[in-house]
Amino acid sequence: MEETKVLQRLFRIIPIPEIHTHFSTAVKQCQRCLLHKTRSQVVVGDGTPMTDLMLIGEAPGKEEDEQGIPFVGRAGKLLDKILDYAKIDRQKIYITNSVLCRPPDNRNPLFNEEIMACNNRLMCHIYMVQPKIIVAMGRIALQALLGEEIKGPLGEYIEKNDLKLKIGEYEADIIVTYHPSYLLRQPSKKMDAAKHWDKIKERLKCLSTRL
Ligand code: URA
Repeated sequence: MEETKVLQRLFRIIPIPEIHTHFSTAVKQCQRCLLHKTRSQVVVGDGTPMTDLMLIGEAPGKEEDEQGIPFVGRAGKLLDKILDYAKIDRQKIYITNSVLCRPPDNRNPLFNEEIMACNNRLMCHIYMVQPKIIVAMGRIALQALLGEEIKGPLGEYIEKNDLKLKIGEYEADIIVTYHPSYLLRQPSKKMDAAKHWDKIKERLKCLSTRL
């Protein structure tokens, strides 16, 4: 039987929260890259296990590594404000990162050694959540979703309206916006980010999501 059919069958038989529990248990033991040596814990994700909107960030920072929850530090506080602006309930969506372990000194995760080492996990994660829309917050998240390094300006991808992620027969729209940490460094870009979130809201409405 084709692999996606097997997965679809499994998803009908096993309750989603149970699938998440098995997944989290496995992922928390991951040693696929060297980040496992310096992390305090694996920061799996936060929110509703099966939902129409999934946000992808970069990697856990210090607070996330300590608390085991993504986006709880400074960038997380700004993300909460952005979600308030967009009238999106954080608990009704799902948030995870391109890599689940904190890179030392908050450096960017390495493309081949860390982002791609965590990519099968990211694809499984997305397949479990089954979002209609995936928001790539920043360049690292977009690279993880496309599985390729992006050298050109992120703006080109932000403008696109037809970015998709396909896994077998499953398909989701990808919408790109700035990472909250970038907005902390470049507050003048917040107006642009507001427009990205207006677009996300509009798309959620078009796709008749329940958020
Ligand atoms: N930045 C991220 O990309 N993810 C987090 O969880 C926190 C900060």
